[in-house]
Amino acid sequence: MNTNTTDNFSQSLQAPEAEPERQYYFMDRARQLLREKIRQAGRPLTFCVVTFGCQMNARDSEKLKGILERIGYVKAQGEEADFVIYNTCTVRENANLRVYGRLGYLHSLKKKNPHMRIALCGCMMQEPQVVEKLKKSYRFVDLVFGTHNIYKLAELLVQVFEQDSMVVDIWKDTDRIVEDLPVDRKYSFKSGVNIMFGCNNFCSYCIVPYVRGRERSRRPEEILKEIGSLARDGVKEVMLLGQNVNSYGKNLPEPMSFAALLRKAAEIPGIRRIRFMTSHPKDLSEELIRAMAETPKVCPHLHLPLQSGSTRILEKMNRRYTKEQYLELVGRLRKAMPDISLTTDIIVGFPGETEEDFLETLDVVEKVRFDSAFTFLYSRRTGTPAASMEDQIPEEVMKDRFDRLLKRVQDIARECCARFQGQTKDVLVEQVNEQDPTLVTGRMDNNLLVHFPGEPSLIGRMVPVHLDSCRGFYYLGTRRD
Ligand code: SAH
Ligand code: SF4
Ligand code: F3S
Repeated sequence: MNTNTTDNFSQSLQAPEAEPERQYYFMDRARQLLREKIRQAGRPLTFCVVTFGCQMNARDSEKLKGILERIGYVKAQGEEADFVIYNTCTVRENANLRVYGRLGYLHSLKKKNPHMRIALCGCMMQEPQVVEKLKKSYRFVDLVFGTHNIYKLAELLVQVFEQDSMVVDIWKDTDRIVEDLPVDRKYSFKSGVNIMFGCNNFCSYCIVPYVRGRERSRRPEEILKEIGSLARDGVKEVMLLGQNVNSYGKNLPEPMSFAALLRKAAEIPGIRRIRFMTSHPKDLSEELIRAMAETPKVCPHLHLPLQSGSTRILEKMNRRYTKEQYLELVGRLRKAMPDISLTTDIIVGFPGETEEDFLETLDVVEKVRFDSAFTFLYSRRTGTPAASMEDQIPEEVMKDRFDRLLKRVQDIARECCARFQGQTKDVLVEQVNEQDPTLVTGRMDNNLLVHFPGEPSLIGRMVPVHLDSCRGFYYLGTRRD
């Protein structure tokens, strides 16, 4: 990303107070310190950032990579690198356990590589008991930071280089958004764009509001400037990211609705597709439905987490809508956009969920016919209201419901997927097919995957493809130019 900040900061003795200038100063300092280490090692030093969790974490990782590249680290293919960052997730317990499991492996690598440094950041680090455990039993970790200060990586790295003990910097919350830091994007042709951070909804099962802090919207000028510069850089598709994009802009000095932001983003030349996630059903406005229907660049796809189909459970979850309101909303969406693809998240086994409640969830699945659904076993997260609710559901009961739900969800998704057969759709080509190098793989506007014969030079291009046959959850096609 372009900024006016240059190497000149290395000349000044005092770190500037203002951001992002301060971080550019520390990137230069870190670069000097790293240069000496590279000289000692007699080889380039490499980095690897491993992302656990959602698109928001993936976007944060791109920022971490941008900073490390600017400092002079070279990207490694795997975790046998000289600087490894785990950007962690803690939304469910298994995400959390995976991190501990892999840390053991990192320790074994570090024993063999004296240059190796290990950093942990992201949502899991915002949990005090996690940090305590790391301090006690994982002393080989060099740096621990949280979700609110990822922009400070360069400054923290300088500290790691200068002091040879564990550096820990976790903030409880922040009202600050630092713009204009370097970013290393995973794809040249599509990108996530944060429009807001944090969450104020406090669904009773969810740890995200505790680890991501209060909701903060970025200023529309900053968002549109970023999308404009991505477009000039060849990006054709953007995904606007927030835990609840429908409440975007409510707390800005000059409030702006998400629908208005979408329309503005669509005016940016070069951008062909706009996606967004996630939408909370309670805040989905008529204005947004209209904006989606009237703006061709906005993809006809909506991820609309249901969580449960039982009004009783939805109330205990603090979701603030009923089964009927959800179904009615789906009706309005389909009326405005008959071909829209709807996807969802569902939790089974929330405390107190009865067989009847579960059947209500299945009933919504039958009625809505989701194009796909992520299904989760309820996971008890420390500190959330649901963790201390009575009537936690036994594992076997949860698993049985999960299996029944998954089967139904998959059968319906397969049927929904097939409805485009015989049509020709624009496909944004993403990569050479992993199994068959004569094919390329891309996505339609509704997010379905299509494989078709084509050259690698098509990557990043939008091409019309005839959908020959549906194979479950994807299509085989032929290019039609
Ligand atoms: N902000 C988004 C979701 C973020 S978390 C939203 O409101 O939709 C992604 C998904 O993880 C959630 O939709 C939910 O289905 C699931 N999830 C969150 N906490 C969970 C928990 N404690 N156990 C199981 N699944 C959970
Ligand atoms: Fe979690 Fe609910 Fe916020 Fe989504 S809206 S992040 S599920 S608290
Ligand atoms: Fe996980 Fe944090 Fe995302 S807990 S789901 S990485 S916001």
